[in-house]
Amino acid sequence: MISCRAYAKVNLALAVLGKRDDGYHELCSIMQTVDLYDEIQAQAGNRITLQCSIRSLAGSDNLAYRAACLLAESQRVSRGARLYLRKNIPIAAGLGGGSADAAATLVALRMLWQLKIDDSELRLLAAELGSDVPFFIGGGTALVSGRGEQVTPLPAAPMRWLVLVKPKLRLANKTATMYGLLSPRHFETGEGVARAMEQIRGGEFPADEHLSNTFMQVAPHVFPNWAKIRRLLSDLAGRPALLSGAGPTLFFVFDSPQLARSAYEALNIVADWEVWLVRSGNWRPLAVLTDPHSHL
Ligand code: C5P
Repeated sequence: MISCRAYAKVNLALAVLGKRDDGYHELCSIMQTVDLYDEIQAQAGNRITLQCSIRSLAGSDNLAYRAACLLAESQRVSRGARLYLRKNIPIAAGLGGGSADAAATLVALRMLWQLKIDDSELRLLAAELGSDVPFFIGGGTALVSGRGEQVTPLPAAPMRWLVLVKPKLRLANKTATMYGLLSPRHFETGEGVARAMEQIRGGEFPADEHLSNTFMQVAPHVFPNWAKIRRLLSDLAGRPALLSGAGPTLFFVFDSPQLARSAYEALNIVADWEVWLVRSGNWRPLAVLTDPHSHL
């Protein structure tokens, strides 16, 4: 059996620059993988099937399933694959879970089907699946631009401890809705992202003042009690609350594991919020042959 981890990301900085003619938005963002991960397992099969630890996510609507079909079609693979997805990354949270799963599926199936296709070709297929899927082929620290599909790898940012907090706020069709709320007055120049990138290139972790996110401007209009939750969390964590992607996950960056742990414990007592203590790092999907302790 082949097994492959699908690491989540945070957006250390994200600027939406404007609206494009194709309906998408032009953005620049620094993405960073963290060690919260799903796992995709793949075994030979007659056709492509996907089971999932969360029953409602099994089947052909899942982006991981669509990734498998796209790879098979593009490489003219006539064999199938039995896929099992173990979810840990929360869904529609701004952590890129679905995109990470799709990218890890491409990497796992490249090994299972012994395909001669390199990462840059996988990235092209990934871009057909969703704007931020290509980033997850290489993970680590990267600048993403265009609609999110153009990936420029950066030197790995120094490792940090992050506390992720997901308030239980739901929004149907979240990403499209959040983009739809943006108007020209929200658009930014991307200068903060450029500054953050310079610092990363110089071997430093970017300073707090460069870690902003355009969606912070519209989040209070859609997520109930947003401002209150954000203030409360910042006070409890003793650090500025940063927003990942289109939200609603907020995160806090610490350079000391002790401070991160205290913040994690302070935040974890609040019912209704899911909290994780993770490390940032050069995490990427690597397919490995494993013992078949499989769910298949
Ligand atoms: O590419 P993906 O399927 O992840 O995008 C979901 C939706 O988010 C798009 O249909 C679009 O409405 C919006 N979007 C956008 N600009 C981007 C990425 C996504 O407007 N750069």
